[in-house]
Amino acid sequence: MSKRYTITAALPYTNGPIHIGHLAGVYVPADIYARYLRLTGNDVAFICGSDEHGVPITIKAKKEGVTPQDIVDKYHAIIKQSFVDFGITFDNYSRTTAKIHHDTAQDFFKTLYDNNEFVEEVTEQLYDAEANQFLADRFVTGTCPKCGNEEAYGDQCESCGSSLNATDLINPKSAITGNVPTLKETKHWFLPLNKHEDFLREWILKGHKKDWKPNVYGQVKSWIDDGLRPRAVTRDLDWGIPVPVEGGEGKVLYVWFDAPIGYISATKEWAAREGKNWEDYWKNEDTKLVHFIGKDNIVFHCIIFPSMLKAEGSYILPDNVPANEFLNLEGQKLSTSKNWAVWLPDYLIDFPNQQDVLRYALTANAPESKDNDFTWKDFQARNNNELVAIFGNFINRVVVLTNKYYGGIIPTPSEYSTIDEETLAAVKAYPAVISSSIERYRFREASQELMNLARLGNKYLADEEPWKTFKTDEARTKTVMFVALQIASALAVLSEPFLPFTSTKLKGILNSNDNGWEDVSTKDILIQASHQIGKGELLFSKIEDSEIQIQLDKLEASKKANEAEKKVTEPQKDEITFDDFTKLDLRVGTILEAEKMPKTKKLLVLKVDTGIDTRTIVSGIAESFSPEDVIGKRVTVLVNLAPRALRGVESQGMILMTEDEGGNLVFVNPDIDGVKNGLQIS
Ligand code: 2FM
Ligand code: ZN
Repeated sequence: MSKRYTITAALPYTNGPIHIGHLAGVYVPADIYARYLRLTGNDVAFICGSDEHGVPITIKAKKEGVTPQDIVDKYHAIIKQSFVDFGITFDNYSRTTAKIHHDTAQDFFKTLYDNNEFVEEVTEQLYDAEANQFLADRFVTGTCPKCGNEEAYGDQCESCGSSLNATDLINPKSAITGNVPTLKETKHWFLPLNKHEDFLREWILKGHKKDWKPNVYGQVKSWIDDGLRPRAVTRDLDWGIPVPVEGGEGKVLYVWFDAPIGYISATKEWAAREGKNWEDYWKNEDTKLVHFIGKDNIVFHCIIFPSMLKAEGSYILPDNVPANEFLNLEGQKLSTSKNWAVWLPDYLIDFPNQQDVLRYALTANAPESKDNDFTWKDFQARNNNELVAIFGNFINRVVVLTNKYYGGIIPTPSEYSTIDEETLAAVKAYPAVISSSIERYRFREASQELMNLARLGNKYLADEEPWKTFKTDEARTKTVMFVALQIASALAVLSEPFLPFTSTKLKGILNSNDNGWEDVSTKDILIQASHQIGKGELLFSKIEDSEIQIQLDKLEASKKANEAEKKVTEPQKDEITFDDFTKLDLRVGTILEAEKMPKTKKLLVLKVDTGIDTRTIVSGIAESFSPEDVIGKRVTVLVNLAPRALRGVESQGMILMTEDEGGNLVFVNPDIDGVKNGLQIS
């Protein structure tokens, strides 16, 4: 039955182009879903736009000596065009600097303000006196109190996904000057998430019953169980949407307050253009709202935005938030700053007219339930061994033989054999199988089912061997070719969500665009006898090793550039007095026991013999060492560092580390014969 859907894809920040991580995590699955829903007759608003506020944009502008507006104008144009070229079929791609968005976000804020949904409070916030600037969000980094990640931001730790207030950070540091911030009073409006806890709990449980992905449900439930706190939704910044109430002068809305409202304003813009009623897509309980995002956005879409929508009162809530995990590249985390990425505009130049190859490689290997790795070798193999050797090969054989034997005119079949009947019945089952996977957000599985249909075609031809029967049994050959052409027609339809360019090409070759998704399972004949098809054209071509090598060389160049940058020795820190130095109590120690801190990636809990005592030290080294690696290691310990609690475990000191040439962590190791634990280092 036809339904109305509002499908949103995370608004990308306009501080750089789109890369394969964004595509695999958000835009390719969202586009498959939107295309599929349209094909199956639903009413779809597929919404996205540029996220143009926020600190990263201001930082980039400062670095480049231009205005934030210059930055967002540049990347908005690049991103928008690359989505079009890649075949992402947004119904509207808007931007958060648009007037309609400023108005919508301000109205939303005012409604919550008028309904007393905010708590207005003067609190002490981090401040950088040198930069004359409050430090929120990405203007400040520090250690995450939840997982020990030393590069957490003022609003979020990307390592454990926790949402933070800047004052939660341990050892905060200004991203502008590197200074240790001071505290300064300022007034802000807070969304009391604690007030929404009961509603959120009930809503998430309901969602879980509807089969939310375990990674999404698990994270959200554990945050709610940990207890939610009020969150400031305004900032002391000059780039953003002005706070529209009294006392808000000089302040702007927090970017994560305005960005999700961008989905609403982009829908309004589209509806006005198309003569539709935007409220049908946001305020009608019959509409299904689905947010496609990466896992770092879960807290914003499953806790903060739903609380905002609930507080406003007239909106529907998301039906599902099928967040993906992360995609790595050749074994390493994607990184914009390290240029460790495959950029979409570059891909489109290096592999012209091969959008579907990347779409397929990213779908077949999508990080749906765990982080996954993109390798150029896998990309090549997906193309050469699947798209070329299975899908392309089947279509090519059908089209070439139909042209060769019958001048491209589809022959009339005679009676079907049992194999023919079984094959045609198997084809009819595919729409339901693929639909079921897509509707459960299992796009990887769905793409493999599509490939299985092409495999079925290949097997059918290989078993029935029309090239042999052509000389001996004219009637049988015609029947086999007729059946094979039905399979090709089914592929033309069912491939559309996954391989849209190929689907269009194939429909062109078959000279047929008559069938819909349902027809594949209901019609006995998808393409009629006597119909004239076109000449063959290769759907896919082999990707050579040399093309892959060019890409690997690009990554190698990034690696070298990063290493060269790292080798630049850090400048000397500010001078200290001898007294300052003698305050440090550094001792020789030995690690006696080690175990991983549960539910963290980075932390090891160590028992260390310091010569004075045996004490617990929590160290952020678990990504470089397993517990077995470190037991028995001689180490340098700062023993008089004030204890601090990490994930509920009190850490009573710090182990000194440095990095080797390859950037790997190594212990500052005092392992010299005869040096006993407890000896002071001075
Ligand atoms: O993480 C990001 O890239 C954000 N710009 C996503 C925003 S999604 C939405 F809420 F706007
Ligand atoms: Zn963390």
